[in-house]
Amino acid sequence: MNKLLKLLIVISLPLGLFAQTKEKPQVPPDTLNQKVDRPINYDEEKVPAYHLPDLLTCANGHKVTGKKEWANIRRPELLELFTTQVFGRVPGTPYQKTIRVVKTDPNAMNGAATLKLIDITIVAQSKSLTIRLGLFTPNKATKPVPAFLLICNRAPKNIDFSRIVKSEFWPAEEVIARGYAVAAFDNADVDPDQDDGFKNGIHGLLDAGRSSESWGTIAAWAWGASRCLDYLVTDKNIAPDKIAVVGHSRGAKTALWAGATDARFAMVACNEAGCGGSSLSLRRFGETIYQINRNFPHWFCGNYKYYGENEDALPFDQHMLLALIAPRPLYVASAEQDLWGDPRGQYLALYHAVPAYHLFETKSGLPEVMPSVNQPVISGNLAYHIRDGKHNLLLKDWNFFMDFADQVLTKK
Ligand code: GCU
Repeated sequence: MNKLLKLLIVISLPLGLFAQTKEKPQVPPDTLNQKVDRPINYDEEKVPAYHLPDLLTCANGHKVTGKKEWANIRRPELLELFTTQVFGRVPGTPYQKTIRVVKTDPNAMNGAATLKLIDITIVAQSKSLTIRLGLFTPNKATKPVPAFLLICNRAPKNIDFSRIVKSEFWPAEEVIARGYAVAAFDNADVDPDQDDGFKNGIHGLLDAGRSSESWGTIAAWAWGASRCLDYLVTDKNIAPDKIAVVGHSRGAKTALWAGATDARFAMVACNEAGCGGSSLSLRRFGETIYQINRNFPHWFCGNYKYYGENEDALPFDQHMLLALIAPRPLYVASAEQDLWGDPRGQYLALYHAVPAYHLFETKSGLPEVMPSVNQPVISGNLAYHIRDGKHNLLLKDWNFFMDFADQVLTKK
């Protein structure tokens, strides 16, 4: 091989430019039953060569070239792949839903906002569950405003609706000051973050027998985000076509799946979603599919476990999940010290989602080289930053999200 060709391959491999489509794999043995304790890789040099499945090539080999084919053929195909292989299918069990505004305080935040507490009650198979949604809308607004909905995966004090406890995880005052409405719910209201055999939470209400394709807890939380959205689109102070979903870490995996499955979400802000969310699994850098399923067996559907220590069998990678948001605005954020979540793998996943955006418009392009720390890149409907510091959702992240929303939601 001549030198130039060799150099080209070395440069191209990390970006997966020699992409190809794979057939659906044969089901390999469930590696979770074997004790695998491979050291976690944090060394870029040890990232193996990999071939990313091609975003625009359908299972039958047809290459999608236009937005109609994307919407009618390739996107549904990918959505089905992530449903059956990663997050699981929501059961069709009928349920009743009642939405009640249980408290309104027009003088919240010293008069800057109106607080509403909304109870969303689901009844099915003689059981019930209530999701408490908290919403602040800015009092100075003269017309319906864009809104952020946070899927809270941390202790409820992080979304304290009384505002006695204030946390950067949900900086409601700062969001209101910038003219946005801000809402949140506790994911535990929807489903417990526990391997409980899917007996409790919304699984306890809606499950009617389970298979390897049945929904896991992340799909359940995403479903809960959509039930909150059912209310938000009816609130007269909110612009129903300008509601962003925000999540951090497991909450960010959830935000991505909520945005993928519910196109009413006008924007997704995905903070440090890592494995099973925004980072490429084929890189095997930081947390792996094997590790995540071992530590959190309830998050995904049964089929996802087959890819543990078996990444080469993946017929997809996470750039395809990100592409399911296209052409809607998508913000992917990483943190410098969050190597477990593979920041570079997050950027590459976003970079490789660009072709789906280009089917709609060409302004959403990203540089091949990852931006420097604290230097967000906003490019059309795509944005990315890597913040200094640790795995967390901070005011700094929110400010970057709002800078993006100023352009893609407020000005729209
Ligand atoms: C664990 C898990 C990650 C997840 C994170 C979080 O670290 O391995 O996948 O993103 O928890 O939700 O904080």
